[in-house]
Amino acid sequence: MAVDVILGLQWGDEGKGKIVDYLANQYDIVARFQGGPNAGHTLKFDGKKYVLHTIPSGVFRPNLLNLIGNGVVIDPITLQKELESLEAAEVDYKDRLLVSRKAHLILPTHRYLDAASENAKGKEKIGSTLKGIGPTYMDKTGRNGLRVGDLTSPNFERKYQALRQKHLHLAGLYPKVDFDIEAEEKKWLASIEVLKGLKTVDGEYFINKQIKAGKKILAEGAQGSMLDIDFGTYPFVTSSNTVTAGVCVGLGVAPSQIGEVIGITKAYCTRVGSGPFPTELFDEQGEFLRKEGAEFGATTGRPRRCGWIDIPQLNYTIMVNGVTQLVVTKIDVLNQLETLQAATAYNINGEEHTQLPYDLCDVEITPILKAYTGWKASLDDVTTFEDMPTEAKSYVEALEKLLNVPITMISTGPERNKLITRALVATA
Ligand code: GDP
Ligand code: IMO
Ligand code: MG
Repeated sequence: MAVDVILGLQWGDEGKGKIVDYLANQYDIVARFQGGPNAGHTLKFDGKKYVLHTIPSGVFRPNLLNLIGNGVVIDPITLQKELESLEAAEVDYKDRLLVSRKAHLILPTHRYLDAASENAKGKEKIGSTLKGIGPTYMDKTGRNGLRVGDLTSPNFERKYQALRQKHLHLAGLYPKVDFDIEAEEKKWLASIEVLKGLKTVDGEYFINKQIKAGKKILAEGAQGSMLDIDFGTYPFVTSSNTVTAGVCVGLGVAPSQIGEVIGITKAYCTRVGSGPFPTELFDEQGEFLRKEGAEFGATTGRPRRCGWIDIPQLNYTIMVNGVTQLVVTKIDVLNQLETLQAATAYNINGEEHTQLPYDLCDVEITPILKAYTGWKASLDDVTTFEDMPTEAKSYVEALEKLLNVPITMISTGPERNKLITRALVATA
């Protein structure tokens, strides 16, 4: 099987960028299959930090191809900024970055609509990153969208104007928000020239040819499974399928090509934006995790909500994704704790449940917590599982038992090399 998958099992920001960057060397191609600039994937190596939004996290590894798949929505303005920061870092991406012609474009008026619609929701707001994700996917499924391949069509101008007009008309339904359409449009029109200069491909043909040629592909997820449009905490979700199934439609590969599904979870849990979060901590414990884990959004800078790891939630996302290996990140954030907790079940109306309710939004959930003894030691110099403090090993083994999937990697810091590997991971 040619395509391995890396995806987040919680509400995003699990450390996907770091793990993709680490593993990328074992693959020929890294491909993003959904989402857009709502994602913020952080990579740290050689003392430098990089944040990617649209570009796959394999881009810093020389010789590797990186594909922005058809399932991704692209804002040419963000993409241009990302390319400029790659150029500043002297990364030669020119022949290694490919864009699917079927990927949809985020227009400035998509962002305008996102802002107007969120603003109109008031207290009910989703907490969107306001990158235009929802309106762009709406136009995709509504069969009105503009795609990368349209940029060179003789009808582009007509299609663009028609869509823009529709957006302005729709925006009129909402209370007004500040948005400088003219200025944003000027930037956008300049940035599509940069996008036109990139290598575009019929992504589905490209990837299947590569598979036939025996190449190994790593599909990089964005967001997390609890933000999936079908399986997440609807309506507090994003607008794409973030789960493994999204790889097939977001790249054009058959389900039979999917090999390892590597699911990432933090050693605790975070969420940014609104919506239910059963294990959220509102006390100094939550504040500790936020501070120690530097839990502030990589895209918006917003403080992330923090809580304990949630086993029913993880078992659910392991199930819908068919996870074959687990990665636990940010375990070092727990280093100083006397005791740590994991929710092993939910108490709903006095009954114990391990299955997620239909709608987490309209039930009162009290997590049933199990306590684990902390290790109260730095993991800085630990490079093997055997050398981890006994309590840290016990916590990892307890998680493995509760989740019934092998934990093959444990991340102990943001840097590329801060990783304990326990078994061979790449099988594609
Ligand atoms: P992504 O969206 O899943 O790629 O994750 P983000 O980049 O949004 O957020 C993860 C944050 O945690 C980033 O700031 C990473 O540099 C950082 N990080 C990743 N792994 C670890 C780890 O094991 N320990 C610590 N302390 N930080 C980590
Ligand atoms: P990465 O790939 C965390 C959240 C937003 C909001 C909801 C909808 O870095 O893990 P959208 O902009 O998609 O309309 O927002 O989803 N969200 C993320 N949260 N990490 C992300 O991406 C996210 N992308 C979107 O905060 O609650
Ligand atoms: Mg992120």
